[in-house]
Formats: sequence, C-alpha cells, structure tokens
Amino acid sequence: MYLKDKIHLLILCFLTQCRSDDIIVTGPGLSPVDIVMPARYFFINFTNVSEKTYTHELNKKLIVGIDGRSGASKHCRVWVNKLDRKDGTFIVRYKIYETCKDLSIQVLFDRKHVANSPYNFNGPVHPDQCNCPVKEFQKWFKDYGCSHEYKQIEKDLKPFSNLDMKKQVNKIVDKYHQPESTSFCHYAVKNNKLYRKCYGKHVGFNMFSDNILLSLMRKVNLPDMELVINLGDWPLVQKRDKPLPVFSWCGSDETYDIVMPTYDLTESTLENMGRVTLDTLSVQSGAELAWDARESQAVWRGRDSRAERLKLVDIARANPDLFNVSLTNFFFFRDKEAQYGPKQPHISFFKFFDFKYQINVDGTVAAYRMPYLLAGGGVILKQDSPYYEHFYGQLSAWEHFIPIKRDLSDLVDRVKWAQENDEKARKITLNARNFANEHLLPQHVICYHAALFWEWSKISKSEVNAEDMTTISQPSFDCNCESHRPNNREDL
Ligand SMILES: *[C@@H]1O[C@H](CO)[C@@H](O)[C@H](O)[C@H]1NC(C)=O
Ligand SMILES: *[C@@H]1O[C@H](CO)[C@@H](O)[C@H](O)[C@H]1NC(C)=O
Ligand SMILES: *[C@@H]1O[C@H](CO)[C@@H](O)[C@H](O)[C@H]1NC(C)=O
Repeated sequence: MYLKDKIHLLILCFLTQCRSDDIIVTGPGLSPVDIVMPARYFFINFTNVSEKTYTHELNKKLIVGIDGRSGASKHCRVWVNKLDRKDGTFIVRYKIYETCKDLSIQVLFDRKHVANSPYNFNGPVHPDQCNCPVKEFQKWFKDYGCSHEYKQIEKDLKPFSNLDMKKQVNKIVDKYHQPESTSFCHYAVKNNKLYRKCYGKHVGFNMFSDNILLSLMRKVNLPDMELVINLGDWPLVQKRDKPLPVFSWCGSDETYDIVMPTYDLTESTLENMGRVTLDTLSVQSGAELAWDARESQAVWRGRDSRAERLKLVDIARANPDLFNVSLTNFFFFRDKEAQYGPKQPHISFFKFFDFKYQINVDGTVAAYRMPYLLAGGGVILKQDSPYYEHFYGQLSAWEHFIPIKRDLSDLVDRVKWAQENDEKARKITLNARNFANEHLLPQHVICYHAALFWEWSKISKSEVNAEDMTTISQPSFDCNCESHRPNNREDL
C-alpha cells in the first residue's frame, strides 16, 4: 500500500471510528487443518475494553459464524460456543462433526468483519474422530504449535536410559501387582496400533489412558514403545527403592513416577464441548460476579479424604466471617460425621467464583481441581504438599497462588492478608489465569502427552512385542483422509 493510501485510511478511520487494530483474534482454532482437537478454540481481545469498561453490548454485537461444505451437503455440521470473560476478551470454541471443506470463520462486530475475518481454509478440516495420522512426528509437533520446553519431563525421565522394557515390565509386575490395592496397565504401541494388558481389580480407569493414546495416534504416528500406566491416584515407585518407570497422574517428592496430566484434565480436553462441562475454557466465563462484587471470603467444598480437611472445618467454624467451608461427603472419617457434619450438598464449581478466594487442600493426593481454579479467576490458597500434577513445577508461590502451610496454621492470616491487599490479590488471579491460558488449555494437554511419549520412546529401546496383549481399536468413524498435502498423511 502506498503511504498516501495509508494516510487516507488513517484519516477515514479517525472520522468513522474504525479501530479494528483494537481487536486481536488469535489461537489454535485459527489453524484448523493442522491443529485437530475435539473442540477447537480461539480468542478475541477488544484491547480497548477492561473489566471496568465492559458492557453486555459488546457481547451482543459480537457474532461468530463458522461454516463449510461437507461431502454430502452444502453445509457441514459445526457447533459454535462463545464464552464471554466479561473483561473485553472472549473465547470462541467450535466442534465439527464431519470433515468440512472450504471452512470459513467469520468474526463480526456490529455487522462488520474485524481483524482478518473472514478466515478461509481450503484444506479439509477433520473432526477429532478421523483417523488421519501425520507420518512424521516432529513435523506434526511443530505444526501443532507445541512448545519445546518441558522441564518436568526432563526431570522425570532423568533416572532412566536405554531400558529393556521386557525386563522392566516384569519387575514392575513382580513388585506392584497387588490386585486389591494397585491397578495398572502395560501398553504397547507398534506401527501406530495400540495394545494393552492390565493388572489389578479396578481397571475401569484404563478408558482414560486408552482415550488419550488413541486420540494422539489419530493425529500423528507415535513411535513404537511400551509403557506402564498406573490407574490409581497414589504414585507407586518409592525413592528408597530402585527407579522403575511407571507413568502416573500424580507425582510426589518421595517417588520416581513419571507424571502425565491427570485423567481429569485430559478427559476435559477430549470431551470438551462433549460430556464434560467443567474445563479450563468454560470455567473462564463461569463467574457471575465481577471481582468487586464477590464475597471477600475463602470457599471450599470437598469430601473428607484427608485429616486437614476436617481441620479446615474447625478453622472455618472459628472464623465464620472469613470462610464458607463444608464437607460434602463422609467416607474416610465416617465416625466423625456427627462432629464435622452434617454433610452439605455439592455446589457448582462455577459458584466458587462468587467468592474471591478458593482453598486447595490435598485429597488423597493433589486435588485435581487446581487447573480449573487457576483458570477460574479467583485467588488460590494452596496447601503446601509433596504431591504435584505435571505443571506445578512451573508455578510460583505469591505469583500464581498464596501458599498455606501443610498444617493450615497460617490460613487465617493468609485470608486476612488477601483482604487487606486486594490489588495484590487481584494481580495473583490475573497471573494464575494467564498461566492456565499458556499451559493448561486442551492444546497444551495434548502437546504434553505427545512430548512425553516421544521422549520416552527414545529411552525404551527394546523391540516392541505385543503378544498376549489385547488390541485396542480406534472407534469406527467414517472419514476420508485426503489432504492438500498427500505426502504427510497415512494412506488409508
Ligand atoms: C472498543 O472498540 C470497539 C470496536 O472498535 C468499540 O465499538 C467500543 O465502543 C470500544 N469500547 C470502548 C470502551 O472504548
Ligand atoms: C488483550 O490484549 C492486551 C493488549 O495487547 C493485553 O495486554 C491483554 O493481556 C490481552 N488479554 C488477554 C486476555 O489475552
Ligand atoms: C455459603 O455459600 C453457599 C453457596 O454460595 C451459600 O448458599 C450459603 O448461604 C453460604 N453460607 C454462609 C454462612 O454465608
């Protein structure tokens, strides 16, 4: 464009208040050909609006339309869901139910296209169920927008090198196969097909590990490998013993277990806009009240899975002006129900954000609600703990949460601190949400698994042999994997 034209445009914009520079539209949902997810998503940011200047008008005037052609008809089936964070930013999610050609995403504000809308794609946009793996892992990893820094993975894999998995699996079975108390599955990936053999009485949770492995294998050819996934919450491999490679959903300072994102977070990724309603995206628009309108109290609900949770009830009862705390179920301490009950009905997770502060106390292990609390936009008061999820290593006390001693002895003081330092507390909520948006969204959860399994495959060297194992098939779904880049896709 010539300078003269630019100046004209500037003047025009000045006169008509066209300020489309004010609106930023970004996110993985704008690369729908390469980044396949159960629910794709992107962000719309009105940079000139804040929580203070936000009005519902903004939401009303913002219209997102997504459409394309399917093989059989003029339109493909797409469901769009706009989440209003009520601070001038929006999350748009969409789920496609069949392969869409000529997909077009239109972002309109006040009936005019904004940013670079319309976004048009001519490659086929596949739903997550399509079994169309990209052949070359590293190319896929880059195109999928995955990061290259995973300190927790480095740390977890450090004790292991050049493993003969046949021997390792035998050792794991010998040591940990106690059917009443532990359950785990031995998985094998060979030629991008999945096999498993499970041990223990309660193996129903293998549906979660099956789902993420199958979902990844529909996107990219996973390298051949074998691994053992623990289906219980407690990590297994104590540091006083020799390291054995067991993948678990929760890690601890006292164990060697290799940490994966929890089944809860992973399921909320794979069932986004599906069976699961609470996830790190939906929770960002769940709060009814603006920060200033929230109760300056700390809220907590949960079951009696740890003694400190009973202590929390005592503390709350002694300080009713600071806390809204109840147990919702008695199982571990049934004999104390008279003292700490009666149990109260569950409240919706979204209701937690009617309060400024949310307490996170361990359950049997780390409380898996942490990702949703971080994304939710309140201040987390987090109990110090040896247990951790895959991302805790990147969190800092006072930056992303307020730390609480393990015995909760400073909890009252910390709540008072938050009340007296509202600006600082508010800043912590923003840091926490930013962290969630950079590390805990569906794209990140998928990338973490991919990075972990890729690095792992380099360590488990032995030839994979899937004899005596059950074949776990991909769900059947009718799909044509033809692509504008035929070289990258498996011929099916
Ligand atoms: C922000 O920008 C939008 C679009 O340009 C405009 O309609 C809106 O009035 C602006 N809001 C504020 C608070 O300046
Ligand atoms: C929106 O854009 C502004 C200006 O670039 C930035 O400061 C802010 O962090 C963005 N908000 C979100 C939620 O991304
Ligand atoms: C605690 O929170 C619940 C849910 O918001 C509310 O119904 C209840 O009245 C609160 N209790 C007190 C004592 O404020």
